[in-house]
Amino acid sequence: MKYDSQLCKLVSARALTQDVYDFVLECPPLAALARPGQFAQIRLPGHTLRRPISICGIDKAAGTLRFVFQIRGEGTAELAQFQPGSQIEILAPLGNGFPVDPAKRTLLVGGGIGVPPMLGVAAELKDKAVAVLGFRSRDAVILEKDFQGVGAKTLIATDDGTYGHHGLVTDLCRDQEFDCVMACGPAPMLKAVKALADHRGVPCFVSLEERMACGIGACLGCAVALNKEDGTQYFGHVCKDGPVFDSHRVAW
Ligand SMILES: Cc1cc2nc3c(=O)[nH]c(=O)nc-3n(C[C@H](O)[C@H](O)[C@H](O)COP(=O)(O)OP(=O)(O)OC[C@H]3O[C@@H](n4cnc5c(N)ncnc54)[C@H](O)[C@@H]3O)c2cc1C
Ligand code: FES
Repeated sequence: MKYDSQLCKLVSARALTQDVYDFVLECPPLAALARPGQFAQIRLPGHTLRRPISICGIDKAAGTLRFVFQIRGEGTAELAQFQPGSQIEILAPLGNGFPVDPAKRTLLVGGGIGVPPMLGVAAELKDKAVAVLGFRSRDAVILEKDFQGVGAKTLIATDDGTYGHHGLVTDLCRDQEFDCVMACGPAPMLKAVKALADHRGVPCFVSLEERMACGIGACLGCAVALNKEDGTQYFGHVCKDGPVFDSHRVAW
């Protein structure tokens, strides 16, 4: 795994909703290494632990990485205060990323703040991507135009029916044709997506979220139960062995 720590210039920062922010950082050497589904550990002044945020977009020509994050606690609230021109230190690119195959029609499923990492995958797959994105309500919908802009067939579901399909993302997934599934979002959504992929007999890769400290496999802070091929279980690291796992490896 190749990664580095670098001080990066924040080239743009904007709010997408009341509590979701969209940052673009200039970091050519890290952008050159990055793959969709990997993440960065972002350092915040005064905090010992960095915050893990997924890479949402990679522009290797411009040398930039894009991050879309939601304010959840103190760290992300402080991050949202940074203004364009300021410097942010990140450790990246971390984790394994999604095994994107541009020849495969791939169903991308994102739930809430699990949607941003799926955009990086869609950007590689273009019209081979079918993106099914779920949100609480209309005012939480993010990145729809970005998915459409890279050529992905894009479908939206909201829990309260205020935008798109009224119901779960999995309702929309059932009508789609695909050779492979990739997903990021809440655990119940990931389990339902895995069940659909199993039913269709296609591979399924899920990105897991776990509380993290070091982000590089050194602290055991992000342990996850995984299945071995012989049926026994062991503990792996979400940060180093993931965050993307073959859905059959996860001991749900
Ligand atoms: C691989 C990965 C990718 C992620 N990608 C995104 C993303 O693209 N956009 C986004 O909005 N959020 C993402 N998250 C969740 C994000 O890391 C947390 O919301 C954030 O760390 C919360 O920090 P805080 O200081 O605001 O909250 P606090 O609760 O104050 O944080 C306290 C500590 O717990 C850790 N922590 C808290 N919640 C989480 C969490 N859910 N996952 C991991 N560590 C946590 C923090 O890093 C910090 O060390 C991702 C998490 C992981 C593991
Ligand atoms: S966060 Fe330290 S081992 Fe994963």
